[in-house]
Amino acid sequence: MTLDTERPGKAPVSSVTALIQVEHLSRVITSRAQKTVILDDLTFAIPSGSLFAINGPSGSGKSTLLNLLTGIDRPTSGRVIFSGEELRARGEDALARWRGQHVGIIFQFFQLIPTLTALENVLLALELGGGGGLPRKQWRERALTCLEIVGLRDYGRRLPSELSGGQQQRVAVARALANNPPVLVADEPTGNLDSRTAQQVFELLAELINLGKTVVYVTHDPQLASRSTAHVTLLDGQIVEQSGAQAALTSQEGRS
Ligand SMILES: Nc1ncnc2c1ncn2[C@@H]1O[C@H](COP(=O)(O)OP(=O)(O)OP(=O)(O)O)[C@@H](O)[C@H]1O
Ligand SMILES: [Mg+2]
Repeated sequence: MTLDTERPGKAPVSSVTALIQVEHLSRVITSRAQKTVILDDLTFAIPSGSLFAINGPSGSGKSTLLNLLTGIDRPTSGRVIFSGEELRARGEDALARWRGQHVGIIFQFFQLIPTLTALENVLLALELGGGGGLPRKQWRERALTCLEIVGLRDYGRRLPSELSGGQQQRVAVARALANNPPVLVADEPTGNLDSRTAQQVFELLAELINLGKTVVYVTHDPQLASRSTAHVTLLDGQIVEQSGAQAALTSQEGRS
């Protein structure tokens, strides 16, 4: 991706110190004349190569924030700058294409397609995400490599129902890696697993930073939160604590 400071919607290069830069981000929901502030003026940065935790109690806005970081949802105000480019500047279709190439998403309840095998689930991600720049004839080998990374190369023919919860989540990690995105985003990825399996799946996610990935994960497990290399903690839609997430705003943008 090129950094072009001339075009509107692009951040000045001087502010690009992070893989993801969040500036004065707010999300307000309005229904029947009632306004609910879900996220309130968040400014922080996610460093490249970090194991980045978003912590906070239930209802504090963690999932809402993840949806804004991945462009699934749009902010009411403020912006998300991803590798120097503002997400909001893209249209809906372009954003979906961008997401397929730049972000791998891992869900709490795995969300594998039950009628497809493990291998087919990973192949589907390649199909939807454009194959990560690889020609189609290499997709099968790429899918097998992703299953190998998560320790399941020999399980490609199994349906999700023939896999344990931990194995299903590993397949979901393989699927998230399929298009070789720089960022993996996981919302309570171990929340549906017993503590031992949760630990194993978390170790797998933590190791992905050694492959050059940035891993952003939501948790309210204090032990998993403590493993992060940087974090923000939310409470009622505001950042109440952070480490390693200091944003370097340019002077004309630095309102806080
Ligand atoms: N579409 C919506 N309409 C109204 N309120 C919403 C909507 N989506 C989320 N909220 C509210 O916003 C707040 C934050 O929700 P969010 O799902 O981001 O919390 P969370 O931190 O992920 O919680 P949990 O740990 O339980 O998953 C909650 O109070 C929730 O009820
Ligand atoms: Mg949530």
